[in-house]
Amino acid sequence: MNLEALLHDRLAPAFAAVAGTPVDPAVRSSPHADLQSGAALALAGRLHRPPREIAAEVAAAADLTPIAEVTVSGPGFLNLTVADDWIATALDSIAGDPRLGVPPVTDPKRIVIDYSSPNLAKEMHVGHLRSTIIGDSLARLLEWQGHDVHRVNHIGDWGTPFGMLLEHLAEAADGTGHSLAGLTAFYRAARVRFDTDEDFRIRARLRVVALQDGDGPTRELWRRLVAQSEKAFLGVYDRLGVTLGPEHFAGESTYQDELAGIAAELAEKGLLTESDGALCAFPAGFTGRDGAPLPLIVRKADGGFGYAATDLAALRHRVSDLGADELLYVVGSPQRIHFAMVFAVARAAGWLPETVSAEHIGFGSILGADGKMLKTRAGDTVRLSGLLDEADSRATDPALGIAAIKYADLSGDRRGDYVFDWDRMLASTGNTGPYLQFAYARICSIARRAEGVPGPIRITEPAERALALALMGFEPALTAAAGPREPHRIATYLYELASTFSRFYERCRVIDAEPETRSSRLALCALTARTLHTGMFLLGVEALDQI
Ligand code: ARG
Repeated sequence: MNLEALLHDRLAPAFAAVAGTPVDPAVRSSPHADLQSGAALALAGRLHRPPREIAAEVAAAADLTPIAEVTVSGPGFLNLTVADDWIATALDSIAGDPRLGVPPVTDPKRIVIDYSSPNLAKEMHVGHLRSTIIGDSLARLLEWQGHDVHRVNHIGDWGTPFGMLLEHLAEAADGTGHSLAGLTAFYRAARVRFDTDEDFRIRARLRVVALQDGDGPTRELWRRLVAQSEKAFLGVYDRLGVTLGPEHFAGESTYQDELAGIAAELAEKGLLTESDGALCAFPAGFTGRDGAPLPLIVRKADGGFGYAATDLAALRHRVSDLGADELLYVVGSPQRIHFAMVFAVARAAGWLPETVSAEHIGFGSILGADGKMLKTRAGDTVRLSGLLDEADSRATDPALGIAAIKYADLSGDRRGDYVFDWDRMLASTGNTGPYLQFAYARICSIARRAEGVPGPIRITEPAERALALALMGFEPALTAAAGPREPHRIATYLYELASTFSRFYERCRVIDAEPETRSSRLALCALTARTLHTGMFLLGVEALDQI
């Protein structure tokens, strides 16, 4: 139910009649009324008439029955007051709808969303946490809205670092460690040898060539690394309650056979320039600090293909084979320029037609208490699994701990950095995961304790009315979150809904109210619980009936 849109549509003809042209009634929520339109004020200059006069004429011409009443206020605002009966009827129909009054989108899109995307043979670190959590929430939301969502986990499983790893693995008998934590140490050891041992470096380079040429034993070693890493990633997704599964893995290696063709086609289209032996694209409008054009390196001087070539091949595949209408990449903000350049080159090459949109969904960093990138005391990057272990041990219930981490990540604007603070995340007051979970569990317990069935909703008290209006805000909140890809808008909505419920429950008796009132209030409780549950589901935050 989108009350704003409904009243917008009712006011628009009245405004058009008064102004003589179509006018956006600009219906917004307001502290002075249920909803308000300030459009008459904006029109005054254009029509050379006092805004109050315009507002009065629009109010007289508008037919808002039976939804709302309109009055002119202040310098020329239209204050809209929604009718109690109408609210009650609307909520009854929302309560009777499995989708809570939110119809599926009328123009479903095929959306390919690239998220999580950690790197092979390295344990996931907190940087991948945000992509995983934000991406999963967006995938849930868009899917729930009715879009055809394809999740892609673009694992970093190809390229030069694997030469050193595979060579070390081939030479070291102990290289088969079963846990990925062991692999991290293994990665470091390989790195040390690569940095200090010239012969090893040469052998590692030969390994890359062997890998790319499809050498049997080398491929076998690589497959072992892939299998072990994927198992570990899936373990993390499971703990996080993330919807990514084995069917979504499509690592960089997927595109290895396409890369030479990508370069050839770009060259043919005149989009490549040689620079220090490398083949580069210089998309228009990208310059470095010194003003020099920025290169997107498609083929490196040693003949190898890197991150950019793989992304171009993946993009082309997503558009032409998967049939994407929208491409989303949930990757940290430092990669903003990389994606802008990839999109520009793909557009120039004709792989990204105007009808397909491509968006980099960037996000800020997780900081430590010192305001710098989150690190362990020893100065290492924080391992994700260690963090999840700590969440388990700190929270009374592991589901609360994981939810707290996820909610803390999703409740702020994704573009911002935030400080990782256990005490704040686990607090049971304020805009936190535990607050929402306790609110939800409390409503479930009211429903369990109360006798009688939820019945038709009647609005008698201001606190009921406030809760009812808040419940109607669910659809607008989802729309507001989906458009700019901002899950925090759902979080803010849920927090406000839970707070509004709290005020309702302080002022209105439920369990020991008169039967008719009790039925109505139980219906409000049940609808609040379902709305919280659905919203938390869309964030990927578990809602427990009992804590
Ligand atoms: N593996 C990359 C990293 O850890 C992220 C990949 C993001 N997706 C992409 N299509 N480039 O930084």
